[in-house]
Amino acid sequence: MSAGPATPLQPVAADGAGFVALGDPVPRIDGRAKVTGQARYAAEITVDGLVHGVVVNAAIPRGRILAVHDAQARAVRGVLDVLWHGQPSEAPQLAHYFGSGEDFSTVPVKPLVSDRVHYAGQPVALVLAQSWEAARYAAGLVRIDYERQPHATDLLRRRADGRAPYELDEDTAPPTPRGDADAAFAIAPVKMDAEFHQAVEHHNPMELHASTVIFEGDGRLTIHDKNQGGYATRKRLAKVFGLPESQLTLLNTFVGGAFGSGLRPQYNLLLAIVGALHLRRAVRVVLTRQQMFTFGHRPEIWQRVRLGAARDGTLQALIHEAVGETSRVSDFTEMVTRWSGTLYRCENLRGDYRVLPLDLPTPLDMRAPGAASGLFALEVAMDELAQALEMDPLALRLHNHAERSPSGDKPYSSKKLRECYLLAAERFGWSRRHPQPRSMCEGHELIGWGMASGQWIAEQQEAQARVVWHADGCVDVETAASDIGTGTSTVLAQVAAAALGMRLDDVRVHIADTRLPQAPTEGGSSHVASVGSAVDGACEKLRKKVWQLARAMAGSPLAGSEFADVEFIGGSVRLRNSTGDRLGLHQVLAGAGVGTLEAHFHLEPDEDEQGRYQRAAHSAVFCEVRVDEAMGTVRVTRVVSAVACGRIINELTARSQVLGGIVWGIGQALHEGTLIDHGLGRFMTVDLANYHVPVNADVHSLEVIFVPEDDRIVSRLGAKGVGEIGGLGVAAAISNAIWHATGRRIRVLPMTPEKVM
Ligand code: MOS
Repeated sequence: MSAGPATPLQPVAADGAGFVALGDPVPRIDGRAKVTGQARYAAEITVDGLVHGVVVNAAIPRGRILAVHDAQARAVRGVLDVLWHGQPSEAPQLAHYFGSGEDFSTVPVKPLVSDRVHYAGQPVALVLAQSWEAARYAAGLVRIDYERQPHATDLLRRRADGRAPYELDEDTAPPTPRGDADAAFAIAPVKMDAEFHQAVEHHNPMELHASTVIFEGDGRLTIHDKNQGGYATRKRLAKVFGLPESQLTLLNTFVGGAFGSGLRPQYNLLLAIVGALHLRRAVRVVLTRQQMFTFGHRPEIWQRVRLGAARDGTLQALIHEAVGETSRVSDFTEMVTRWSGTLYRCENLRGDYRVLPLDLPTPLDMRAPGAASGLFALEVAMDELAQALEMDPLALRLHNHAERSPSGDKPYSSKKLRECYLLAAERFGWSRRHPQPRSMCEGHELIGWGMASGQWIAEQQEAQARVVWHADGCVDVETAASDIGTGTSTVLAQVAAAALGMRLDDVRVHIADTRLPQAPTEGGSSHVASVGSAVDGACEKLRKKVWQLARAMAGSPLAGSEFADVEFIGGSVRLRNSTGDRLGLHQVLAGAGVGTLEAHFHLEPDEDEQGRYQRAAHSAVFCEVRVDEAMGTVRVTRVVSAVACGRIINELTARSQVLGGIVWGIGQALHEGTLIDHGLGRFMTVDLANYHVPVNADVHSLEVIFVPEDDRIVSRLGAKGVGEIGGLGVAAAISNAIWHATGRRIRVLPMTPEKVM
């Protein structure tokens, strides 16, 4: 099979008529392809003569490679080559591809560039063979002699050595200080002061990171890769390999989850390209589940939060400090303390954010990066302050609710957090909560209720889309958007169908291919606001073209009309709200004698205008836990989450995003944590038997309420983003509920049984 364009998705109609409106719960148009195995992922693209690459990873955390013994591996039948940094002269000089220096600014992992080992699991050799089995077997035969150097992997022991990150932007920087937080804290009548810790978490999408790189003969590469953005990936690859972007076609047709792990090329892709260029053949590299633990992760974080308040609950001082782990080769930063500057009114504020370089892989953005840990600390701290004040935790938050953004004193583009609190509290039955901990039990379980707030950025990025309308009545929507499992392709089809008044099954969506119009990386919950808006913009231009043709037709019912007077509905165009004549869309094309009509839209966010507002999604999470004190086990038996994230474009996929986010929050709270053996300097729980994620038995009643919002400052569709907000606040709400159940504060994640007992 050759590398053709992205498989056109086969849409299914949402209802009998197939006409859809924005907001409708439209089922995924690619759902059938996915569940029947017809959807081909990056590791499933096959070409004749495909070569399989298997990566060998470093066994020590820090030191030098003295020798690589690859003779035994080379002797395995089917092995074509073994690549590593110090090849004999006839083999490729691999440093040539990545730049030989130890500057990691372009790619945080530079595999095979030198004899230096920066972390356990670093890719140090690539075995290329005619079959995956031969490559895997041979990889196990590669023996490496190392010179070990002392390593450090223990954040808590060394956190005093944290330093300011080399580079911070407006989001990752600590909030701008306000007033005098230390002085205000010293004299505050009521205060709390506590430390928090979160273990390393790893992305574990179902689909392993994989790349199939097809060498086209004329030197062009067609690249099937699991990533969250083809254009951005191609740009990085062009830089690393010194190739013009025009020689690289990137396809990420289907992505089986990523959660941030696909925001940048991983080493499977870099090495597959090295192999393809070296052999001038197609090469596939798939990581194993264990190897999924050898690149980015959510960093381990230590935090301290101090809150001071007046007796009526008015926040007077907020001090939020954090030290997150980074690697020695690259600075990783995320938005940890930012939320303390934007969530509550407080006149005296100070944040401090440091990084501590350790001998571990460079961390990487993971779903709601920074907020997942920063908001956990802040929202447990708020619960502790409420406890000290003998005040209801919800009342405390309502009392300090910010009507304007406290950071920069900007108005919000929209903010329905107050409604989130009230609707979720009502639904949950919060008013029946007895304030005393240990006040509810049933059988051998203590019951506790807790709540927390969530906040996430609402961004928009540059994006382009083309919409082509064919005489047969079908429309092609084209944009290099990604669908990492979120439902993007469905939403884009829905946006186009609604905008053109066409049937959903007359819309074909083409995404995930760099031959299509530019789209940003799917990340930061901004894809619908960005790409969806570009599609909507293109559809508007197309409507205008149709109207111009229709108006000019002989005897047109639209003669003399303005564009604003017409509407596109039911596959036709007519005067708005008229019951009279309408023109079928294909009638218009046929009448004008045109085969196709197309429109292109280039969305460039108005940063000046948007920058005048604080733009964020908000949530309120309430939960019930049942704790078996003797066993230390926690069951999260009920979660009610109210989310305000702009206009909901697809009620079904949006709800799934929030439900998935809540499950992530349960995992963060109770299960997920990668254990490190500091003696060996390596992650130990590197498979799904040892790294625990929630399973069905851990998930009980989850309820999602969407609070109506429509934000035309964030996007022309009114949408913000819905991906990341769902997970925020969940871990804090669970910790707060465990306190309410047991009287014990747990400020360490994950809250595994030995901490709860
Ligand atoms: Mo997400 S961490 O914005 O991919």
